[in-house]
Amino acid sequence: MKRIVVLVSGGGSNLQALIDAAARGDLAVEIALVVSNRKDAYALERAVHAGLPTLYFPLRGYADRERYDADLAARVSAAAPDLIVLAGWMHILSPAFLNHFPRKVINLHPALPGAFPGTHAIQRAFEAYQRGEIDYTGLIVHYVIPEVDAGEVIAQTVVPFEPDESLEDFERRMHRREHELIVRATGLALGIAEGFR
Ligand code: GAR
Repeated sequence: MKRIVVLVSGGGSNLQALIDAAARGDLAVEIALVVSNRKDAYALERAVHAGLPTLYFPLRGYADRERYDADLAARVSAAAPDLIVLAGWMHILSPAFLNHFPRKVINLHPALPGAFPGTHAIQRAFEAYQRGEIDYTGLIVHYVIPEVDAGEVIAQTVVPFEPDESLEDFERRMHRREHELIVRATGLALGIAEGFR
């Protein structure tokens, strides 16, 4: 069974999608560790509820990010992952982390390649639609490089806007599509996508 480590910072709905897919047998992985950089991340509760090992690992107390990233890499390495999945992880990883795991770190970003990097991508795309600048957006899962929300794409989904949809409904629709994409892309990156029904 392939082992994944999932890094989270927030609500963890994408972590939940991975937990559920693994429990259903749709994704043949063991979630070896869930790491959060935020203590109050609901994702941690989801992990505990699923009986998964968790680690709260805050940046606070570190003089510099590179030292934090190197220590984080050591903790993640100890879980012997085949793949590291950033699922709403809101800390930019430097080469001090990434160099330990070549082509082993993937990230979910709620926009198409090159569009709306960083935070609040769903809201920013919605606002661009309202200004008449775009009529679709999308989602990617990509290999992580030092540049934020960039890197070779593993899987993507195009999501067209719908007239008169509220931001809340649009966000819900995007999240539903994310939950499918993260499971599929994790399987693809691990080379076990044929186990995906
Ligand atoms: C998701 O919408 C994910 O695409 C986004 O954070 C959210 C986490 O939700 N990631 C980024 O914006 C990365 N730049 P979750 O905690 O419910 O999985």
